[in-house]
Amino acid sequence: MVAAAHLLPSDFEAKPFVKWVGGKRQLLPAILKHVRLAEGAVYHEPFVGGGAVFFHRQPKRAFLTDSNARLIRTYRGIKQDVEGVIRLLRSYPHDKDFYLEMRARDIDAESDVAIAAWFIYLNRTGYNGLYRVNSKNGFNVPFGDYKNPTICDADNLRACSRALRGARIEKRDFASVVARAKRGDFVYFDPPYIPLTATSKFTDYTSEGFSDADQVRLRDVALELKRRGVSVLLSNSSAPRVYDLYAEHFECVEVDARRSVNCKPNGRGRIPELLIR
Ligand SMILES: C[S@@+](CC[C@H](N)C(=O)[O-])C[C@H]1O[C@@H](n2cnc3c(N)ncnc32)[C@H](O)[C@@H]1O
Repeated sequence: MVAAAHLLPSDFEAKPFVKWVGGKRQLLPAILKHVRLAEGAVYHEPFVGGGAVFFHRQPKRAFLTDSNARLIRTYRGIKQDVEGVIRLLRSYPHDKDFYLEMRARDIDAESDVAIAAWFIYLNRTGYNGLYRVNSKNGFNVPFGDYKNPTICDADNLRACSRALRGARIEKRDFASVVARAKRGDFVYFDPPYIPLTATSKFTDYTSEGFSDADQVRLRDVALELKRRGVSVLLSNSSAPRVYDLYAEHFECVEVDARRSVNCKPNGRGRIPELLIR
């Protein structure tokens, strides 16, 4: 049987298969200008999230990691058996009671394919596409009440599966990239951001469980990679603390982030983000 992925036009563009906080689609053109991959180089994305940069750039060889185990198993399910994921998603109705049953399922005991369908279903039908869990790792986002959400975008899932063929996908802390990246490789870091309200003296701030100590650890990882001849690109906010961490050893470029929430036509509400390289 011919794999269904072969029926897609070869230039069909893959997009992230989930909505993800910090998704990079709006900043893609600015980011892509700085993504230069030499022949044979491996692309690493240690905070892959929705993977907007990866799916757009589609490097032949990649290492994708994230600390969210269910997200990583979702990537694996899509890579290994996208038709299985599509079949499950097509059988799931858009219905609040069904959503609540799905939400309560003991999903970690199931296959990567089942997790992928579960993850995508909840992401598409849950409130604002949020991913949030309680202290027992139980998913607790309320039903989203959308009129007609796209639960299964089969063509895009097939394109994602195809893009993932040359990717190794693992649940890891970001620092593990140090042991893998080789001279000439490229690493794009998109960590949880330091909030704009953080000043250079503010040291105990934590976002998504990512503390200031983690931000310092990340800066040190970036420095170690630079020292070894690995190309590094990082995204972060333009908070003073970010300059404090990076300005001495890296170039900080401001890019315009058009935040859909408070972007005004007169330019007020536009907040620059930083690309650090
Ligand atoms: C800002 S999001 C990445 C957004 C992504 N680039 C996109 O386009 O959707 C940050 C990601 O970092 C992950 N993360 C948080 N702490 C981590 C850690 N210590 N190591 C690896 N990943 C981590 C989160 O699970 C989340 O997926």
